[in-house]
Amino acid sequence: MSRLLAGLLCLGLVLSAMVGARADTPGAPEAGELNIYSARHYDTDLALYDRFTEETGIRINLIEGDSDELIARIEREGTHSPADLLITVDAGRLWRAEEKGLFQTVESGILETRIPEHLRHPDGLWFGLSKRARIIIYNKAQSHPEKLDTYADLADPANRGAVCMRSSSNIYNLSLLAALIEHQGTEEAENWAKGVVANFARPPQGNDTANIRAVAAGECRISLVNTYYVGRLLGSDNPEDRAVAEAIGLVFPDQQGRGTHVNIGGAGVLINAPNRANAVRFIEFLTGDWAQRAFSEQNHEYAAVPGIEIDTPLNAFGPFREDTLNAAALGRNQPEAVRIFDRAGWK
Ligand code: FE2
Repeated sequence: MSRLLAGLLCLGLVLSAMVGARADTPGAPEAGELNIYSARHYDTDLALYDRFTEETGIRINLIEGDSDELIARIEREGTHSPADLLITVDAGRLWRAEEKGLFQTVESGILETRIPEHLRHPDGLWFGLSKRARIIIYNKAQSHPEKLDTYADLADPANRGAVCMRSSSNIYNLSLLAALIEHQGTEEAENWAKGVVANFARPPQGNDTANIRAVAAGECRISLVNTYYVGRLLGSDNPEDRAVAEAIGLVFPDQQGRGTHVNIGGAGVLINAPNRANAVRFIEFLTGDWAQRAFSEQNHEYAAVPGIEIDTPLNAFGPFREDTLNAAALGRNQPEAVRIFDRAGWK
C-alpha cells in the first residue's frame, strides 16, 4: 500500500514537472509555433510577441516586409506556405489578400464580442485591431471659408486653389473614395473627386507627413491625412515637429452626418496555415486590453476594441463620431475608386 502510494506520488511529481515544462518553456514542441508575416514594424510588436510566447509557450517566427510583397510571397508559396497569419494596415490591403483567396474563415466568440462588427470582415476573413481616421487639416494662420466640416467641403468651389493631396494611387485615398462610393454611389463620388481636383493647389505629391508640412508652411491651406501622422508630430521629441503640428488645425469630418472615415490595421488567418489554432489564439490575444494598447499606442492609432483609451496627444481633440460602414466595403470598391480617380484626373 505504502509502495503504491509512493509510486503514485512519484508519478504525480513527474507529471507536474512535465506540465511545468510545457507552460514555462517558450517554444516547447507541445505548444507549437506561429508564423507571422507582418507589414508592421514597431518595437511594441516585439513586446507583444514576447508576451504571447510567455503566456502560451507558442514560439513566434516573424517575417516582416512590404504588404504587397508579403501577399505575393504567400501566393508564390501556395499550399506549402508556412505563413499562418498576415498582419497589415488598411482594409484595402487586407482586401488584396482576400481577393486572391489567401484568407480562411475564422469563427471566434472572443473576436466577435471584442471587435465591433464594422471593423471585421462579415465572414471572419480578417479582423481590425487598430483604427485610424482620415481627417482634414488646415493652416490655422490663414483665413478660411466658413464651412470646412465635411469631406464634401473639400470639393466646394470656396476652396479653389487651397488643397494639397497625396496621389490617388495611395491606398488611404482609395479607401476613402471607396467609402464615398458605398454611401453616395459612383456618380456622386466622381463629382466629389472632380471637385477636389479642381481645388488642387498643386499636383498630388508627397506622403501624409509631407502634406502636413506643406499646410503648416502655408504652401496650401488644407489637406487630408491620417490621424497618426499628426499624433507622431505632436508627440515628437523634436520641437520643430511639434511646431509643425501646432501650426495646423484638425477637422474630424462629417460629425453631423455619418461620421469620419476610419480605416484599420488588422490580421487574417491564411488559407494554408499550418498552425491555425495558434493564429486564432494570437488574434484573440491582440484584442486583450494590454495588447490593444501596445498594438495601437506606439503608432498613435485608436484601439479597435471600444472603451480602451490610448495615451496619445490626439486625445486632446476629443472623441469623435466615426463612420460605421463595414471596412469590407473599402476593399470591395477599390477597383471602382481607381477608375473614378483616373476619370477625375487625380494623378
Ligand atoms: Fe501610413
